[in-house]
Amino acid sequence: MNSDNNQLPKRAQWTSNFGFIMAAAGSAVGLGNLWKFPFLVGQNGGSAFIFVYLFFVIFIGITLAIAEIAIGRSTQLNPVDAYEKISPRLKWVGVLGAVSGVIILSYYAVVGGWILFYLAKSLLSFNSSLDYTKVFDEYTSNPGLQFLTFSIYFIINYEIIASGVQKGIEKCSKILMPALLVMMILVTIRTLTLDGAAEGVEFLLKPDFAKLDKKTILSAMGQVFFSLSLGVGTLLTFGSYLKKEDNMLRSAVCIPIIDTLVAILAAVAIMPAVFAYKLKPTAGPPLMFITLPTIFSKMPLGNIIGFVFFALVFFAAITSSISMLEALISFFVDHYKWDRTKAVRVNTAMTYLLGIPSALSFNILKDFHILPDKTIFDFMDFLASNIIMPVGGIALCIAVGWIWEGGIRRVKINDTSATEKDSYLGYVNNSAIKEITNNGKIKFTMISIWAFFLKWLCPVAILAIFIDNL
Ligand code: PHE
Repeated sequence: MNSDNNQLPKRAQWTSNFGFIMAAAGSAVGLGNLWKFPFLVGQNGGSAFIFVYLFFVIFIGITLAIAEIAIGRSTQLNPVDAYEKISPRLKWVGVLGAVSGVIILSYYAVVGGWILFYLAKSLLSFNSSLDYTKVFDEYTSNPGLQFLTFSIYFIINYEIIASGVQKGIEKCSKILMPALLVMMILVTIRTLTLDGAAEGVEFLLKPDFAKLDKKTILSAMGQVFFSLSLGVGTLLTFGSYLKKEDNMLRSAVCIPIIDTLVAILAAVAIMPAVFAYKLKPTAGPPLMFITLPTIFSKMPLGNIIGFVFFALVFFAAITSSISMLEALISFFVDHYKWDRTKAVRVNTAMTYLLGIPSALSFNILKDFHILPDKTIFDFMDFLASNIIMPVGGIALCIAVGWIWEGGIRRVKINDTSATEKDSYLGYVNNSAIKEITNNGKIKFTMISIWAFFLKWLCPVAILAIFIDNL
């Protein structure tokens, strides 16, 4: 697919803007939405957490998504070379992003394996006489089984990314994402119509602000980064496969909106059922693996709903995990001119090895803690979502807001120098603005707000929350 008449291989490209939106939304919508978001909502006071989350999506999520996609499409490069092109001093930002994709996939695949296990279980039917806490504990404490499901998940992931950007990632996302939405709506209708569902709805609507503390705010911010796949170079790389004539601004706004809708829908699908069966919303990570199977085993049509539910979680997870290595793969392809298959193989193998300790941190390595209370699995998650992604986010704001061709700045009055003359709505028309507006063809009316958020609000807010929590 890569050969061209010229000497250089042609860069991979999406076949359509829809394909790009589906692939980027596929990357964004994942375990972050279906597994993490509902349990974080349950643990952090229901709708109070949702409010903080929405606030961060609007102020930080959309602002950064626009900036990150603009770098990718403008430079047509992988994150490492793209940041280096902006300034050689920024190369580390790209490296950090590419590496964090590897870190995320290494433990994400462990949960991906759990989904496969539950999918198989739901085929054999959920059984109301089973104690699902025991089922989960027995499963995760069995190193062989953990290793097996983790490995199967990795193989599926490998097969898809090895098929290429268009035939693998885009095709798969274009089919799975719409299917996921339909399935989610089905599950939500079923749980909302359960007796006693209203209490769960109330939990999602009536905020308990007393539950909001610093930790909640950091986790809401970390969750925005994680859920939108921000600051790790995934959006940048996907943006670099986008055609120049497509409207990247619209896509950059659409993706966070789709992602947030799915997260909220997931909470609406799960919480009413949790309340209807008088279970605790604060279960944390086991919410999906203990609480939900318990519910499915008791609910009318529970087996079918359970199967559909775990299938949809699997779809969401796989369309995310296939995007995680893309930053690093594109680096090897662009920079070292490796062929895609080799890059996919080497990166997958490396990530797989890195993931083994996470897969074993529920059994053999259970008592091995890197930080107090954090197993290797927990540590990987903490490192990626609460440290690397926010640091990558601040660096992204600084790169586009302040450094790239002098940053986003207003044209000075009376300035007649050649570069400053060229302006867009009063701003110096640099590569970032040209890219976002397709060279002035697309209206970017919110440019002043975006510039303010990007240069001031986002970096200061991210830094403040980050330091406060360290
Ligand atoms: N956004 C994905 C999710 O919600 C996770 C992800 C993070 C994917 C970073 C790619 C890069 O599950």
